[in-house]
Amino acid sequence: MSDHVSIESVGVVGAGFMGSGIAESSARAGARVLVYEPQQAPLDRSREAISTSVAKAVSKGKLSDDEGNALLARIDWTTDLGALSASTLVIEAVVEDEDVKRELFGRLDAVLGPDALLASNTSSIPIAQLAAATSRPDRVLGLHFFSPVPVMKLVEIVVALDTSDATVARAQAFATAIGKTAVRTKDRSGFIVNMLLVPYLMAAVRMYEEGFASAEDIDVAMQLGAGHPMGPLTLADFIGLDVLYAVCNSLYEEFKRDEYAPPPLMKRMVAAGRLGRKSGRGFYDYSPAAVAARP
Ligand code: 3HC
Repeated sequence: MSDHVSIESVGVVGAGFMGSGIAESSARAGARVLVYEPQQAPLDRSREAISTSVAKAVSKGKLSDDEGNALLARIDWTTDLGALSASTLVIEAVVEDEDVKRELFGRLDAVLGPDALLASNTSSIPIAQLAAATSRPDRVLGLHFFSPVPVMKLVEIVVALDTSDATVARAQAFATAIGKTAVRTKDRSGFIVNMLLVPYLMAAVRMYEEGFASAEDIDVAMQLGAGHPMGPLTLADFIGLDVLYAVCNSLYEEFKRDEYAPPPLMKRMVAAGRLGRKSGRGFYDYSPAAVAARP
């Protein structure tokens, strides 16, 4: 176990896909992790998802049985926000809503010890706004992970106006200790990756919307022609069209550049509940019958 991980006791707020991935990656590296949600049901789903992921890693020989059990034993799940008081690094990964996050940051600030770092996994909400809800703006930063977290090697460290050098150094040490490569970025909507990725994904949506090519051909073209692991429309479905739509709007609001404006089709798909893989339908159909019928 790394020295750096042993000094951070990690709290994760939000037990969704991202929060569970952050918990799994941290525990895998040896950190103690406490996952918080106000309701029990998402915590149960998170426990199940992490157990399944660990069982898969064990069956592939990436972890021994003992290592898998030890990883799971390092994670606890709680509905009590006060239980995070012993955490030295809390990473928030809740819904992309500024009011919800600000309120949470205020409550977390009151619960955490004075040296604890408070990080957000937001993809586009200004860290400075979240820091302003706390009494510790020097210890507030962005830690932006990528999906699926156990696989993707990058973490963006988002340095806000008041984030101290010591906070950045601790965040860097934590990222390294959990096996990620960290890049530093200014507190501007989209940071590095989404600022580049989102215009590309939106260009693909416009191309599809205009009937320029089929979804399948757009995706195959970028997979085989540019070596991407997923084509842009498959990736949009994977990220979730509601999440992507919120990121587009944040980017557009910040920079007012056309390339960030979500195409009309995105708005209609979100309104219709076609959110991508998680809702069973997006640019593609993910119903069991449709998946079974694919070549
Ligand atoms: N948890 C743990 N491990 C997983 C996983 C998960 N959810 N999903 C896949 N894996 C592992 C598999 O076990 C497999 O491991 P192995 O090679 O050691 O056996 C490996 O990842 C590859 O998986 P598969 O063979 O099942 O499938 P693929 O080869 O198609 O890879 C993928 C899946 C890793 C998701 C790949 O398609 C990929 O890299 N896609 C692009 C993902 C991407 O761009 N993510 C960033 C999104 S942007 C974002 O998150 C920012 C936000 O703010 C919008």
